[in-house]
Amino acid sequence: MNILAIESSCDDTSAAVFSEDGIQSNIIASQSIHVKFGGVVPELASRAHQTTISQTVEQALTEASISLEEIDAIAVTQGPGLMGSLLVGLCFAKGLALSRDIPLIGVNHMDAHIYANFIDSKPDFPFVSLTVSGGHTQLEYVKAPFEHEILGKTRDDAAGEAFDKIGKIFGLDYPAGPMIDNLSQSGNPQFHKFPQALLNEGLDFSFSGLKTSALYFVQNKEEEWISNHLNNLCASVSEAITEVLVKKLRKAVEKTQVKTIVLAGGVSANSLLRTKAKKLASDMGLQLHIPRLSYCTDNAAMIAITGKMKAELGEYNSMDLKPFASVP
Ligand code: KG4
Ligand code: ZN
Repeated sequence: MNILAIESSCDDTSAAVFSEDGIQSNIIASQSIHVKFGGVVPELASRAHQTTISQTVEQALTEASISLEEIDAIAVTQGPGLMGSLLVGLCFAKGLALSRDIPLIGVNHMDAHIYANFIDSKPDFPFVSLTVSGGHTQLEYVKAPFEHEILGKTRDDAAGEAFDKIGKIFGLDYPAGPMIDNLSQSGNPQFHKFPQALLNEGLDFSFSGLKTSALYFVQNKEEEWISNHLNNLCASVSEAITEVLVKKLRKAVEKTQVKTIVLAGGVSANSLLRTKAKKLASDMGLQLHIPRLSYCTDNAAMIAITGKMKAELGEYNSMDLKPFASVP
């Protein structure tokens, strides 16, 4: 089965092709227009998707050496995400499906982050997923394909959002997560002890206090001081965020007694989180799966693999498929 997948939930326009041999192409057009605003501007994101979607899909087909006539189904992100952005991908997908008279498969973006782990490996069910992105941070017990139970989630900011907002406080461009990761490599994580919230309170997370604490810590400092200590500041923030994530992941494993864990979402690209998760897995004798870097942040390959798994279960959608901004 050949699947063409389209992802446009936020500020990346992406298209991918999946065939029997796996992912054949995964084209990602990232929108740089938001940098000067320090965050994603929904209206601009939607317009940029409209400008790039056609060529992104064409490029995905070309790179996969496949024609539209050979595609058997179209998988598309249904939500959660920005409504204006989702609509562009969904309308484009419906147009293609209608013109070729092939089925449409609506995919939940957060599920897709988890199933990105199935592109290169095959995690055993049941497993616990630490799903960490710019909009979500949650621990999920995944019993079987598409049978998810949320064990805990953030009460305020998502982990990626915390990286981005704290980076902004330190004077870094949006999205600051990858840059903080980079700068942390040569910094001292013990330079300042930032708070780790809700450690003794179940499996929920909170990152807004950390953000405020970072703001207070640097607000009376000279710009020069911040720039001289940037590596140490970033390393200390990375330490606080990843430590909470991994401590809660350990608790989730103890609660569910699973033998397999996976990381998912943009923040799973974080090198310190990957290192800490590997240590946790080795300490607890667990199987650990982490997507390769290009499948961590938003991409259509994860929509394609999830679409394929839904197709195997016979889960197709009609032209009535509607987008959703947040999980219903
Ligand atoms: O999954 P994703 O691409 O989009 C959403 O669904 O939100 O995640 C984007 C988030 C951003 O907040 C970005 O700063 C963060 O993932 N991120 C990282 C790293 N790479 C991406 N955060 C920390 N370290 C990284 N290496
Ligand atoms: Zn995402």
